[in-house]
Amino acid sequence: MTDLSTIEATLPAIASAPDLAALEAQRIALLGKQGSVSLLLKTLGGMSPEERQTTGARINRLRSDVADALATRKAALDRAALDARLASETLDMSLPIGGAQAGSVHPVSQVMDEFAEIFADLGFAVATGPEIEDDWHNFTALNIPDAHPARAMHDTFYFDRVDGEGRKMLLRTHTSPVQIRTMAASPPPIRIIAPGRTYRSDSDATHTPMFHQVEGLVIDKGITLGHLKWTLETFVKAYFERDDIVLRQRPSYFPFTEPSVEIDVGYTLVKGKRVIGGAEPDGWLEILGSGMVHPRVIAACGLDPDMWQGFAFGCGIDRLAMLKYGMDDLRAFFDGDLRWLRHYGFAALDVPTLSGGLGA
Ligand code: DAH
Repeated sequence: MTDLSTIEATLPAIASAPDLAALEAQRIALLGKQGSVSLLLKTLGGMSPEERQTTGARINRLRSDVADALATRKAALDRAALDARLASETLDMSLPIGGAQAGSVHPVSQVMDEFAEIFADLGFAVATGPEIEDDWHNFTALNIPDAHPARAMHDTFYFDRVDGEGRKMLLRTHTSPVQIRTMAASPPPIRIIAPGRTYRSDSDATHTPMFHQVEGLVIDKGITLGHLKWTLETFVKAYFERDDIVLRQRPSYFPFTEPSVEIDVGYTLVKGKRVIGGAEPDGWLEILGSGMVHPRVIAACGLDPDMWQGFAFGCGIDRLAMLKYGMDDLRAFFDGDLRWLRHYGFAALDVPTLSGGLGA
């Protein structure tokens, strides 16, 4: 009993604990394993029913009063600590930005921004999709059924689990599943590009297990191969920032387009180096795959292929960055070497614009 009254008398001391360390010491002394209140609580078991109603209730009240007092004081001390920190730490927003020179924009981010700028001007929105995909969006809906050889061609990283619908989970091998997600989510007309990370089990000077692609998709009424050709020509000229660009269309095969067209860009040799552009090319470099969206892909997304047509394209962002900015090893893109970033990176404040110049 003396104990109980003594402890009750110490309650006001909690409210005046000078700091968090002192408060914690009080908490341990009262509510810790060997704390005085904890020891009192242990006596409840040996009490008669009458005692439990009187003294027992008092002990329980004491426990909750102590806990409340500790919490109240802790909140007050925390608030005071934050106020003190806010008062002592200041940031002068008017100082010159010395730090911005230390960082730079990675060429991949730069090229993604350039794409967004060019295609925004043509009325395209930027869409995204998950990097962890299921095999229906990555393959089946794109007209690549289970036993199709194109599945094996993708060197896919699979997870050893399926999703709720029994679909195999994987790291997307291309950005094309964003076509499916976009068509399934919003009614046409559709004009999007979808830049992002993609994954294949592959590694050498021009292949890394993680790389970047951008997908393009247009779905509307009466879309033809002519629209595709004009769009890509306009894009490539804007991207390489010169008008004397010659494109070559080559028939090709992708399961999700019919017909499928591979696009090469002409280069000229300047002092032995390949430079993109020139009215009379010395050779060709493949830059992207494209075609008219296969009716089966349109139908898989719940749209009527007799009403809606469109074109799609997909290209490697890293490769286009290498062609424009002259790097010759893709692996260095992902080494995080500051010297490389200082050489190939872009000033953080130079946002690419069509009017001011894309690559500056
Ligand atoms: N998904 C293809 C790849 O990763 C690239 C591609 C080709 C995308 C043609 C397209 C397309 O949308 O029409 O190799």
